[in-house]
Amino acid sequence: MNNSDSVFQMVPPSVVNAVAKICDSKGALTRLEGLVVSHQLEALPLFQTVGWARFRDNVRHDYESHDFVAIRGFSAEQGGAALLVALRTIGESLRTFRGGKVVKHFKMSPWTRELSHTLRAGEFHTDHSTQICPPAVTGIQCLEPDPGTPKSGLLWIARLSDLLEHFETADCKGAGRFLMDEETTMLSDRSSSSWTGNLVSNGTIRYHPETIRAAARRSGNSCKDIDKHISAIENAALERAIPLALNRGDLALISNHRALHRRGKSSVVFKNYPTEFESRRVAVAHATKERRHT
Ligand SMILES: [Fe+2]
Repeated sequence: MNNSDSVFQMVPPSVVNAVAKICDSKGALTRLEGLVVSHQLEALPLFQTVGWARFRDNVRHDYESHDFVAIRGFSAEQGGAALLVALRTIGESLRTFRGGKVVKHFKMSPWTRELSHTLRAGEFHTDHSTQICPPAVTGIQCLEPDPGTPKSGLLWIARLSDLLEHFETADCKGAGRFLMDEETTMLSDRSSSSWTGNLVSNGTIRYHPETIRAAARRSGNSCKDIDKHISAIENAALERAIPLALNRGDLALISNHRALHRRGKSSVVFKNYPTEFESRRVAVAHATKERRHT
């Protein structure tokens, strides 16, 4: 696969219209989040239609073949309400957080160093890596594209299977051993949660460079060797990764167990310096488990 429009699974018009009826009205996101919390989302009539079943099967097929699927055709109205519906194609249950919320919003900013919305490029990672059970699927919908797209603001996705194949053949086997054979601790400074174990195990990966460095610093160890491995993993992932340029409404559902993702350097256009600017804005939500085949 390459970064052309052919990467995107197109949503059929019947599904676009049915989802728009649910997701494009005022307050739709809050209503849908309420249905998730009360376990009633599955009861939406949309999910019983033949059109949805066909679309869901196509999405599943792409996802199972590539460990991610890119979808084009949903609207970006109401802060990513369609993302929540789209996640149901492969997600069994959705992750909720404080206040009964499911979707988080991030606008890239020139005035922050926060990893989640700085303009700087991020590193390849999986989400919520220090949790006991990290979510199975990360869903990202573009609400506003990067003003410099496709030169900036790309979403990069690298499959674990490709990475491991790379380490088998390339001259950086140490990074492969670091992932598979060494016990590593990750520590989230923000939540104080930590996890220790093999980063790759049973065909799945959990990996977050900042939390690996944070754990090393906390234990008084040097980050030199760790940075060497992280750099080798970053280079290998970049070599094998697929870059996605997301337009408004486009979304990606990415395995958070079998793939890494990363945000490329983003750009900004000021409308009224320093407070008003155009930049990439996304909605992010997670499915805790993948849906079983029926
Ligand atoms: Fe992420």
